Amino acid sequence: MRYFTNVHDLGNLKDALKEAFEIKSNRFGYQELGKNKTLMMIFFNSSLRTRLSTQKAAINLGMNVMVLDINQGAWKLETERGVVMDGDKPEHLLEAIPVMGCYCDIIGVRSFAKFENKEDDYQEKILNQFIQYSGRPVFSMEAATRHPLQSFADLITIEEYKTKERPKVVLTWAPHPRPLPQAVANSFSEWMNATDYEFVITHPKGYELASEFVGNAKVEYNQKKAFEGADFIYAKNWSAYTDPNYGKVINTDRSWTVDSEKMALTNNAFFMHCLPVRRNMIVSDDVIESSQSIVIPEAANREISAQVVLKRILESL
Ligand code: CP
Repeated sequence: MRYFTNVHDLGNLKDALKEAFEIKSNRFGYQELGKNKTLMMIFFNSSLRTRLSTQKAAINLGMNVMVLDINQGAWKLETERGVVMDGDKPEHLLEAIPVMGCYCDIIGVRSFAKFENKEDDYQEKILNQFIQYSGRPVFSMEAATRHPLQSFADLITIEEYKTKERPKVVLTWAPHPRPLPQAVANSFSEWMNATDYEFVITHPKGYELASEFVGNAKVEYNQKKAFEGADFIYAKNWSAYTDPNYGKVINTDRSWTVDSEKMALTNNAFFMHCLPVRRNMIVSDDVIESSQSIVIPEAANREISAQVVLKRILESL
């Protein structure tokens, strides 16, 4: 595997899960694979989990790791071709990318949607430039439209906690004061559609995701109805995708916050969220602190999803 940007790059999901559980029980078994290999992690946006879990996964594999925060200490980067660079950006991404490629064997990139141009965001302009110009294998650490390392960890977590072959999994929108990308919701939907789970998405009108991500999911506008009989509740905020509101907050209705009253409608569902989470906006204190909350094991599985991806890329070098 040279690139990891979406669920399809992983191939057969059952094989990938098997590999994940094998790595989880033997995470230092491949130290030789990464010896004298360098991972470069490039962040255009903030991170806690992705940064630490991916770095840990690389260390488990015996790799060296370099981390670059583009907004802290690097030259400001111009990303548009054809711009007369007489402003505050002294370096162009088209030189910076191949230079970064000279110093490493694998590149991880975090680059969120900018909400300036929907087409640019949905064409994954920044991530694809790394794929095109770095000369190195590239994986997404959350791009404009997807967060595949998170979704893979989510899938591993559901497989660990499910008590029936075909659980009902509900992705619910929840309120947030700021406009957030659709990437986590898109990606989670894409991965759930690749399983045979019963998958339901619930959100207020106006928050429809792109049809390519909704896939075969049932869309239910009544959140309480969606929660009935659910085995997993996956909460996430996202901003509007549809025009003319792309990237905007059009609703902060706190009646969509996940609370214990709504969780009582479920089949004693587990609560999931990718974190960071705004308490009492997305989820009430009592739900996230309850025994049904699996947000910490979910975050812990980020190390495992990253290790499977890095291992497969290392095996392809
Ligand atoms: N879930 C996740 O990607 O967390 P970070 O933004 O902290 O990396």
